Amino acid sequence: MLLSDSEKGSDQHEALSQILSAAYRQRDLVKQILAFSRKSEGKLSPVRIVPLLNETLSLLRASLPSTIQVQSHIDEGSYTVLGDPTQIQQIIMNLFRNAADSLEAHKGVIEVNLTNARIEPVRAHQDLKPGEYLKLTIQDSGRGITADIMDRIFEPFFTTKEVGKGLGMGLPVAHGIAKKLGGVIAVESVPGKGSIFTVFLPVLAEQPGELGPADDQRLACGEASPILLVDDEKIILSSMQRALERSGYAVVSVQSGREALDIFAENPQRFCLVITDLSMPGVDGRELVKRLIDIRPDIPVILSTGYGDSITEQEAKSLGIREMLMKPPNTHELKAAIHRVLQG
Ligand SMILES: Nc1ncnc2c1ncn2[C@@H]1O[C@H](COP(=O)(O)OP(=O)(O)OP(=O)(O)O)[C@@H](O)[C@H]1O
Ligand SMILES: [Mg+2]
Repeated sequence: MLLSDSEKGSDQHEALSQILSAAYRQRDLVKQILAFSRKSEGKLSPVRIVPLLNETLSLLRASLPSTIQVQSHIDEGSYTVLGDPTQIQQIIMNLFRNAADSLEAHKGVIEVNLTNARIEPVRAHQDLKPGEYLKLTIQDSGRGITADIMDRIFEPFFTTKEVGKGLGMGLPVAHGIAKKLGGVIAVESVPGKGSIFTVFLPVLAEQPGELGPADDQRLACGEASPILLVDDEKIILSSMQRALERSGYAVVSVQSGREALDIFAENPQRFCLVITDLSMPGVDGRELVKRLIDIRPDIPVILSTGYGDSITEQEAKSLGIREMLMKPPNTHELKAAIHRVLQG
């Protein structure tokens, strides 16, 4: 992404990381609320935790001041969980942000560890059945949690942060997700010294090859038949383009619906799929999708929507849109959406 290309500490890097983290915050707020209100969504698939964790940590690291040290330790093991990658990422982000917020004057250490754990029948308790789990701990050297509020931190809208800084939804959302996947989140804290949040999630027996690199799909979106990427915001366009290219896809990117139409009409069979923004000046996402599908009814389309865009899933479906992404999608979300679309 742009961020990783710019020099750390440079003005450009600062500005970019601020823009990105603001965008992520806004997007996350929407997601938190959606995740909380949507009780069961179904659609669980095997998710490999290590790449997801590494990617999430590098995103989070980029948004932290250098006075906060982040250490991570991942033990050998099999860490495939039946879940929804976006939601699992949300657990990590919410706990990590709390850890960062607990550090006075932005100074201290956040330690992230991943190991396997077996819950034996004798140790099992009401929330955790016996079996194989992954154990993810996020530990901070922050202010800690005092006994008087310990019982309340998982309550929706409980926050000790100033108005505008916290909604009190981070922990209830994280816990809700973990519970839905058959896991729990536990907490230990020493006021003044720090806290450890531990996430247990049941793991799947490793199924080799199941989520392996989708070579057939990469070929399907290689140089000969690239992805057509459309977004009027240059920063988003180039960061998505790089994310896709690093994942092995070929991309043709354009900054307007008009250009997209022209280039598509020249050779409609050339593209493997189209990823377009919804709100753009001139020919917007809705109009673009209609016209593309008029030209080539089987063209797979992924729509990326920004904060405040209003389009229902129903409308998107009726337009022929196969997947929707909230902007800015991260690499994992992009790949997962492409994966689903190409699988038909
Ligand atoms: N690592 C931590 N160290 C100290 N206090 C914590 C930690 N994690 C959570 N808390 C306490 O629990 C409260 C609730 O956390 P939660 O994540 O649910 O909401 P929030 O962080 O206040 O707001 P939001 O996550 O919605 O932005 C926090 O306000 C804070 O008092
Ligand atoms: Mg929080």
